[in-house]
Amino acid sequence: MSMETIKTECQAELNLVEDAKQLADFWTKYLSKTGEVQKLMGGIKNVPKEEKKAYGQAVNEIKTWVQALYDAKKEEVDKKAMLARYDAETVDVTLPVKHTEAGNLHPLTCIKNEIIDVFAGMGFEIFEGPEIEDDDHNFTRLNVLKDHPSRDMQDTFWLTEDLLLRTHTSPGQIRVMDTEKPPIKVLVPGKVFRSDSDATHSPMFSQMEGLVVDEHITLCDLQGMLDQFVKALFSDEAKTRLRPSYFPFTEPSVEVDVSCFKCGGKGCSLCKGTGWIEVLGGGIVNNKVLENCNIDSSKYSGLAFGIGIERIAMLKYGINHMGKLFENDIEFLKQFKA
Ligand code: PHE
Repeated sequence: MSMETIKTECQAELNLVEDAKQLADFWTKYLSKTGEVQKLMGGIKNVPKEEKKAYGQAVNEIKTWVQALYDAKKEEVDKKAMLARYDAETVDVTLPVKHTEAGNLHPLTCIKNEIIDVFAGMGFEIFEGPEIEDDDHNFTRLNVLKDHPSRDMQDTFWLTEDLLLRTHTSPGQIRVMDTEKPPIKVLVPGKVFRSDSDATHSPMFSQMEGLVVDEHITLCDLQGMLDQFVKALFSDEAKTRLRPSYFPFTEPSVEVDVSCFKCGGKGCSLCKGTGWIEVLGGGIVNNKVLENCNIDSSKYSGLAFGIGIERIAMLKYGINHMGKLFENDIEFLKQFKA
């Protein structure tokens, strides 16, 4: 191609360029090492000596001119491509959002996890026993003897003469002591069953049993642990109080109260004016129960407690009917989103 043809063709071709691909082809044709401009440069060897300088200058001018045309076109093509991308990626921020609802943990699961967290921090391990128990584990070896009136405290669902739905998580104590030697420090969470149903009772509910067996375990250990527990679950200001009670498997037995976290102890509707709320039962493991599991009661002592998980959830969240925790009403459950 002569300089003249390059000048005219180049301009005409560039006018037709619309995208990056065509622009690249143009570059290859004119500006690359094998392109037309380079070919002109090569032609210098055929030019008479005295014209070489002028020829060289002329080719250089053409080169600069083509390069400038190319650069200007490139800018234009790039800008067009960018605008096209912006157009394609435009988001209509006024469109209604598609809601995907995330689920959340059931309040009972939250409470159970919170309780486990507190006691795991004190070194407790988790043990789970069966929901169908026999008389031996649920009653007899826990010192609830055959004709003992305390059997009536728990309205048992009997399955056969010997098998029943466990009425509490305390049989877990027997199962652990049968297989482990002291020191023992376990939590036994699980569902329990009693023929009982009203605003604060349900035929199925959940408990968390605690058992510690070691040398020199006393009621002070029980109170110290439970004090930490109520502080973690209710408030740093919460206090605990032990009241004497009765369970066949603990001696002495206590009911544990927490200072009312609603009124701080002054007296309100939640604590029925007393300033205290009952949260759980516990005590020092009855020597007879240790002996029933072949643990030397002259060397070891134990503490045990049983926490009603629904009761804690109702107190903590201000729920007035236990049934609410089992109805699976989504609107109710949604309130407990963390
Ligand atoms: N098992 C008892 C109940 O269900 C609670 C309890 C557990 C009491 C451990 C003392 C020790 O009522």
